[in-house]
Amino acid sequence: MAFAGPVLLKRIPADPAQRKLYRWADYNATGGYEGLKKAQSMPPEDVIKLVIESGLRGRGGAGFPCGTKWTFLPKDVHPRYLAVNFDESEPGTFKDRYLIDHDPHVLLEGIAIAAYANRISTSYIYIRGEYHRQARVLEEAIAEAYAHGVFGGKHPGTDIIHNCYVHRGAGAYICGEETGLLESLEGKRGWPRIKPPFPAVAGAFAKPTIINNVETLSCLPAIALHGAAWFKSMGTPSSAGPKLFGVSGHVHRPGVFENELGIKMSVLIEKYAGGVKGGKYKAAIPGGVSMGILGTDQYDAALDFDIGKKYNVLGLGTAGVIVMNDQTDLVRALRNIVRFFAHESCGQCTPCREGTAWMHKILNRIVAGLGKPRDFDLLMEVAFSMGAMPGTTICGLADGANWAVRTFLQKFPEEFKARLKPQQVGGVNITPVAVAV
Ligand SMILES: Cc1cc2nc3c(=O)[nH]c(=O)nc-3n(C[C@H](O)[C@H](O)[C@H](O)COP(=O)(O)O)c2cc1C
Ligand code: SF4
Repeated sequence: MAFAGPVLLKRIPADPAQRKLYRWADYNATGGYEGLKKAQSMPPEDVIKLVIESGLRGRGGAGFPCGTKWTFLPKDVHPRYLAVNFDESEPGTFKDRYLIDHDPHVLLEGIAIAAYANRISTSYIYIRGEYHRQARVLEEAIAEAYAHGVFGGKHPGTDIIHNCYVHRGAGAYICGEETGLLESLEGKRGWPRIKPPFPAVAGAFAKPTIINNVETLSCLPAIALHGAAWFKSMGTPSSAGPKLFGVSGHVHRPGVFENELGIKMSVLIEKYAGGVKGGKYKAAIPGGVSMGILGTDQYDAALDFDIGKKYNVLGLGTAGVIVMNDQTDLVRALRNIVRFFAHESCGQCTPCREGTAWMHKILNRIVAGLGKPRDFDLLMEVAFSMGAMPGTTICGLADGANWAVRTFLQKFPEEFKARLKPQQVGGVNITPVAVAV
């Protein structure tokens, strides 16, 4: 493992007073668009091979290998689209916004490389509705890129013209799920689609479509310029490269920090985020609220794509780390998280629609001091039933909700059980079984 310094954030100084927006001239003067030139000097198939070799995995949450995903596009079927996922609506996640706030051209260069490699004719940047400033920044950067021929021309050696547009969302978490995003892009309600067909075969407007996260695509210029071995020299064998970590919650210096995958969470918190504030470390969410929780004894967890197997969480997710000190009421914290999922569930699948709503109701009554002893098992039962078998629900929102609940309960059972009181009638405890839910 060797992290020599920022790759994605190389133009963004740590000192907020020195930060600025890199426009076309600044970006070019600091090596911008060199990666695109290098990529365009190679046959498109070799660019795909390079991305596969680099080990780049998706930074949007699922960690799927980027180059491998590109190979799922059916051969010689055109037009093909690229949908850039800039929905970024998961609580605790703000890394893509930070990057685009300062360096929008790194994404545009990545889009141009992906579009060249895959013969894409239209790239849509699907941006969260609330990101007003970032939409404007991107529109201006796209105009600059058009003026300098990055977009609007033919891919070298083909008749395929590549255009790039910003498409603004309307503010729903579910539109970040890749097929919810496609529905929304098509002007419909953002309801995730049943798969197959997968987007690579029938995506936006029923055409082959690649969906990639902002950070994933922003890695491409550096990979094209410096090569696969350089990229793999950072991180771990299964989690290559640099990564943006957003740190929020009880820390002295919240923000977005770049380091290699595999960094210990304790190092990220203490060396970069200024240490835990207002008490001692108690727990942390590794990557957006859908990933579950790391316990008090998991402070040193390595933040890479193997975190799920090793530490009983769903995964690394977006690497948006939310830190909680020992003054935190985890019952209330979980209630807030579940309220979010209940509100954002699109309602198509019964286990998700009903499960999130019931878990929210049960947690509400526990917070109100009316929790019953059997509520602990009941919460577990509802959570497990939501993800009982693969295919129980259409998309991953239900998994996110149930992993949050079950890992909070598994890792901090006493904190929940202490809030559950036997129900009394006339001063006599009645058995939990006799209490109607
Ligand atoms: C409920 C839900 C919300 C999601 N939100 C986002 C998001 O805001 N941004 C994102 O890049 N991926 C999000 N994803 C993951 C996408 O479905 C998809 O895996 C990702 O955009 C693929 O890009 P990548 O391979 O570059 O990571 C979400 C998934 C789910 C289930
Ligand atoms: S799992 Fe939930 S959010 Fe996803 S499609 Fe089903 S109901 Fe909608």
